[in-house]
Amino acid sequence: MIIYRARIFDTPRDPFDGGELRVETDGGLLVEDGKIIERGDFTGLRARHREVEVVTLTDGVLLPGLVDTHVHYPQVRVIGQLGKPLLSWLEEDILPEEVRLGADGYASEVAEEFLTGLIGSGTTSALVFGSHFAAATDILFAAAARRGLRMTAGLVTSDRHLPEPLLTTPERCYADASALIERWHGVGRLRYAVTPRFAYSAGESMLEAATQLIKEDDGVWCTSHLNENVDEIAAVAKLFGAARDYLDCYDRAGLLGGRTVLAHNVHPTDRELDRLAATRTVIAHCPTSNASLASGSFPWRRHRDHGVRVALGTDVGGGTGFSLFKEALQAYFTQRLRPDGLPLGSAHLLHLATAAGADALGLADQVGDLSVGKQFDAVWLRPPAGQPLAVGLRHARDDHDALARIFALGTPADIAGVWIGGTLVHPITGS
Ligand code: GUN
Ligand code: ZN
Repeated sequence: MIIYRARIFDTPRDPFDGGELRVETDGGLLVEDGKIIERGDFTGLRARHREVEVVTLTDGVLLPGLVDTHVHYPQVRVIGQLGKPLLSWLEEDILPEEVRLGADGYASEVAEEFLTGLIGSGTTSALVFGSHFAAATDILFAAAARRGLRMTAGLVTSDRHLPEPLLTTPERCYADASALIERWHGVGRLRYAVTPRFAYSAGESMLEAATQLIKEDDGVWCTSHLNENVDEIAAVAKLFGAARDYLDCYDRAGLLGGRTVLAHNVHPTDRELDRLAATRTVIAHCPTSNASLASGSFPWRRHRDHGVRVALGTDVGGGTGFSLFKEALQAYFTQRLRPDGLPLGSAHLLHLATAAGADALGLADQVGDLSVGKQFDAVWLRPPAGQPLAVGLRHARDDHDALARIFALGTPADIAGVWIGGTLVHPITGS
């Protein structure tokens, strides 16, 4: 057993539904076998458990582990290709890099760089777009198992409009994905997600192969892209003549539901929003990507008004980095600039980056906040002395203001420790 002593912030209840930031100013978490078994004021907790080792994290702030609901493993080396819209960005900058993952040695290096970036940014749970290559996807799973990441991922599948090495057939998709499900789904913290890239590159029979996989194992997840860019939407409408709209391409194949996460949805119709809500399908909102690729600004109020579930994704490499602090800040900027924007405070941003993601990934019983019964997935922000966040935290008016400083100023360089299931996965430096 260990007691972690820290200033602790979390959001067990959604601030959109009356929840508030929860704070332990000098708090203690008693952790056994990776799980929080007691929580409270440090002095009281210590008095009840005098013999237990104490890890002192009092300098800085301890947050729940961050949850990224949409991120692409093969794109870590091409983050920051600016100035293009989705389809030419994919063709010119992204897909040539994804082809390189056909070489296992290359994929292994990329997998390590990807996981280092993700975990070093405080992300402890993620829904990850794998590679179009089964071997490279297997390499990712193996590397994530070694690091202990709470990861859901899958083989990306397409049968048209991409470079030839990235294409497969529904039969091969089914066989390759079945083998990966058998090997990794439910192993430790890993789960499988069927991952047709998007309706533009995955035709009807490819989507049906995905559905077949889900039907055969109802614990398997599903992820793809939706309504990201106006030219993409027009192209999909031509390809799926019988579909009512973009969402209907997935719906007709039977892919919607509470274990399906679709990224973007910047340009939805009201009918699509109704259908997303009715099926409990989650939207992964990816604000830096939406801005960088000029895909558009996310109509979050309409999503809320229709009752659609929304979580946060970095969309690396369309997004400009692994930091969910930056992503949440961009979500805030986007809403500030929209005439119908949702007013977001720092507690909303924390909830979005943690508990909302945990709920989206069906992990709310395990992670998302630092309550008793949850896993000890946590991020310790301890900015180096003199750095902007250290100054900001020192001068914050109150806890809400301190949390706002974290979102405004926090970077991966301010993260001193990351734990997943009680195991330190990113070293505590210099303490
Ligand atoms: N749509 C299909 N593939 C991709 C991708 O890799 N990134 C983004 N942002 N959108 C996509
Ligand atoms: Zn994406």
